[in-house]
Amino acid sequence: MAGFETSDDAAVYLLGDQAVLLTVDFFTPMVDDPYDFGRITAANSLSDIYAMGGRALTAMNLLAMPCSLPAEVVAQVLQGGADKVREAGAVIVGGHTIDDKEPKYGLSVMGVCDPDKVVRNVGAREGDLLVMTKRIGVGILNTALKQGLETEESLAEVIESMAHLNRAASEAMVEVGVNAGTDITGFGLLGHVREMALGSGLGAEIDLSGVAVWPNVMEYAAQMVRPGRTTDVIRFLNEFIDWGSAGQDWKGVLADPQTSGGLLMAVDPAKADALLSALEEHGEDGCIVGRMTAGEPGRLVVR
Ligand code: CO
Ligand code: CO
Repeated sequence: MAGFETSDDAAVYLLGDQAVLLTVDFFTPMVDDPYDFGRITAANSLSDIYAMGGRALTAMNLLAMPCSLPAEVVAQVLQGGADKVREAGAVIVGGHTIDDKEPKYGLSVMGVCDPDKVVRNVGAREGDLLVMTKRIGVGILNTALKQGLETEESLAEVIESMAHLNRAASEAMVEVGVNAGTDITGFGLLGHVREMALGSGLGAEIDLSGVAVWPNVMEYAAQMVRPGRTTDVIRFLNEFIDWGSAGQDWKGVLADPQTSGGLLMAVDPAKADALLSALEEHGEDGCIVGRMTAGEPGRLVVR
């Protein structure tokens, strides 16, 4: 099960009767508040374990900071990370710090999973419904924040969402059983749908009416307030997508890189209601955003 044929969220190493999941992620600050930066980073780093249906056990800190930065700022970043790792039921077992002009923080996380229950981002079946947790548009809002159109106060709910662990959503996913799963991060909703479709040898349809988006995001997207990376994601998607009625606003939203986004799951339609109920019982929002279709592998259609 160890290999690079598909881009799984975490590496999987079979050790005895357990699948060991290994992952690493690091980030430059997406918010000014050092504590929030720490916990969002940790939630995002832990997410790849949850995307695969695993349980996080240990984490190691990776820290790069300018030595001019006050020690208490660095301490707050690490505190944010430590609090999230504790909430995940895991422990920080070490780490490494270097001097760097631009601050960066990340974690390398180890988790475990029953080998028969590892959720991969391939293996979806024709007719599966696509279910997503957490609203999208976070990249656009982070850009609005950088441009002074929003404040950390006005985005408090969005910051909480970024810092929110995908743990409960993952537990719901494992309880019900899905055919494929991943987390929505740097390639935007559609980039991750594309990866799942291509790897599963299927096409996919996205239903705009089902996609949950944060308030104000459509307006910002229409004004082209978006991360620079969105342009690259759209250009990449253009090769195999029928955008349908999606205008500039929806293109910007569907391709919007997410920081610590939710889970994306392909579930048998007969189990979709059970998945939505399980998510609700775990205190998570879920919405049906599309379906897997027969046809050219990796081809996407927006409706
Ligand atoms: Co991932
Ligand atoms: Co990752």
